[in-house]
Amino acid sequence: MEYKTIGKRDFRDFVNRLIQGDHEINGVVRKGTAFVYDTLVDTSDLCLDYDETLLPPKKYFLPVKETLLTFKTGDPSSYHESVEAEPRIIIGIHPWDLAAIALLDKAFSMGQSDVNYLSRRNQSLLIGIYPTRAFKHRFSGSMITDEHYQTADLMLVDLGNDAYGIEVVTDEGRALILESAAVPADEHAIENMERRKHVVQDEVHLSMPGKDLPAFLKKQQQSKVIDRRADRCFSCGSCVLVCPTCYCFHVEEEVDLSLQAGRRTRTWDGCMMEGFASAAGGHNFRETPANRLRHRILRKGKYLPEHFHLPGCVGCGRCAQACVADIASPLEIINEMNRSIYLPEVATLQKVQTMTDKDRFFEFTLEGRDLGHQPGQFVELSIPGIGEAPFSISSSPTKTGCFEMLIRNVGKVTEAVHRLAPGDQVGIRGPFGSHFAVERYLGKDLLFIAGGLGLAPLRSAINYVMDNRENYGQVTILSGARDRSQRLFPEEINEWSRAPDTLVLETLDHGDDQWSGQTGVITTLLPMVSDRITPSDTKAFIVGPPIMYRFVIRELESLGFDHKDILVSLERRMECGVGKCGHCQIDDIYVCQEGPVFTYDSIRESMEAL
Ligand SMILES: Cc1cc2nc3c(=O)[nH]c(=O)nc-3n(C[C@H](O)[C@H](O)[C@H](O)COP(=O)(O)OP(=O)(O)OC[C@H]3O[C@@H](n4cnc5c(N)ncnc54)[C@H](O)[C@@H]3O)c2cc1C
Ligand code: SF4
Ligand code: SF4
Ligand code: FES
Repeated sequence: MEYKTIGKRDFRDFVNRLIQGDHEINGVVRKGTAFVYDTLVDTSDLCLDYDETLLPPKKYFLPVKETLLTFKTGDPSSYHESVEAEPRIIIGIHPWDLAAIALLDKAFSMGQSDVNYLSRRNQSLLIGIYPTRAFKHRFSGSMITDEHYQTADLMLVDLGNDAYGIEVVTDEGRALILESAAVPADEHAIENMERRKHVVQDEVHLSMPGKDLPAFLKKQQQSKVIDRRADRCFSCGSCVLVCPTCYCFHVEEEVDLSLQAGRRTRTWDGCMMEGFASAAGGHNFRETPANRLRHRILRKGKYLPEHFHLPGCVGCGRCAQACVADIASPLEIINEMNRSIYLPEVATLQKVQTMTDKDRFFEFTLEGRDLGHQPGQFVELSIPGIGEAPFSISSSPTKTGCFEMLIRNVGKVTEAVHRLAPGDQVGIRGPFGSHFAVERYLGKDLLFIAGGLGLAPLRSAINYVMDNRENYGQVTILSGARDRSQRLFPEEINEWSRAPDTLVLETLDHGDDQWSGQTGVITTLLPMVSDRITPSDTKAFIVGPPIMYRFVIRELESLGFDHKDILVSLERRMECGVGKCGHCQIDDIYVCQEGPVFTYDSIRESMEAL
């Protein structure tokens, strides 16, 4: 490579001469507090000391809107190509935006060449500059695009005194700079250039090498991180519009007012826009914001790199800046996917209610998001200095803004949880595990059988059903407690019993004078509801103490239930919650991953399950 230096004043004179010449000269200019690429009419407008431009320079090769073809209406032979291109020089492009242009060059030249893009690109000379100012969202170092010079014709390095160093990259660049007062750089200047290229460091970093993204994202396709973020997406499309590597477009026919002629245009489009993947018949292949965000992240981190062998995201950080919902940053998404599986997230206790002498009911919130659980799943709750323990989520996913748990005081973590007051914070990991899948049993009759604390996880499914009552057949709820003081959710039990086509029966192991209901173990309730239950149309859900399962299942078998229609939730000793520590294992099954909810059919052969 050839190296030169030029005084800043001489460089400005050089730009002034370019402005007087044949090329259109574009460069970075200040607009209020922001920076944009614009046509230079005076060299004093050029601002090379900037953090980031609002839009990348891709608009010069792929305009926001352009005509591809012209035609006369009704005459297919009149289609005529339209290519508008003029020689231009763009000054002040940062390395990562040059890396993005390298990707666009490949995208528009591989396979069938796109003459509209390439004719503009081929008539352009690019003068890049290494950054002089930090930008809080930039992570180009992680994407190894922070030193990309290959797409430029000339690269400037601000030497910090009153001069620029110049890397002469192409013959066109050499010819151009010959018209300036630039002189060959001596050894000292070259050393200074190498140092000055790196003075600005990223403030944020990917937690893995950028080259590992395709393999990593392949494993993360089902990641809940995307779903949680996408909940807040407005589908505004800003993230794709500001992106230097996004090049999708929309093609449209426009007819003149005369109705005699028209043009076929292309306009910037983006996969985050709602109708981008909608097809004939009204089907939208990426209907939800989560589908669209997943596609965008995979396109950037996996599909484009695999296809072009270049980074699909150059780490400019513009999308993070542009997204009002603060969810678009690939860096944050990937780092969140890649964070330690053992790292809890902060949850704040909002309400506590005493339910029995040992049980308290807790309402927690997470900062800025719902937990995103399904009925039957659990979380790991941490109290720093005490430890971590698993608890079922007792609220229905239909209750948004918070989540609830019923916690029995049995030892060190649970005792510490019982000491918490509203406003106190805990750590939460999860949700984990399989779920009751009530959303799949539309139109079915449902039988819920809860023993003691088992009503806590079942409540999540029952309230889900109550909030979607019209989607299910008859509902039967059987609940057992030791005695009257141990009854859980008594008010809600009353509410459920008032719901249409719903029967709720309770039993106490030990009744008393004030208890007019049933006494005895939970199985005594089953004969009382056997007339109303059609086993072939019913799904049964059982949660309770270990001893209860065998007896209840035996009763259900004698009523004629298929083992596939009986769902149980198994409680085991759990520590990691993520299938690593081995504590929860029964035979070859990790209960924290494949359970805690199982069909009886899937575990009945297991020696250790029940
Ligand atoms: C999937 C699942 C869902 C659960 N849901 C609830 C719930 O909704 N409400 C509720 O009150 N409890 C629930 N539990 C039980 C709860 O996890 C334990 O009561 C809790 O871990 C006890 O912790 P501790 O520190 O207070 O008790 P410790 O002082 O550690 O021990 C007290 C007792 O709890 C048992 N235990 C300790 N650690 C665990 C552990 N990690 N997993 C299971 N048992 C343990 C011990 O063997 C001992 O018998 C659930 C457990 C599992 C596995
Ligand atoms: S995805 Fe975001 S950070 Fe990556 S290149 Fe596009 S705008 Fe820049
Ligand atoms: S991720 Fe952000 S910028 Fe992108 S479409 Fe959604 S809300 Fe708009
Ligand atoms: S709780 Fe650790 S493997 Fe299941």
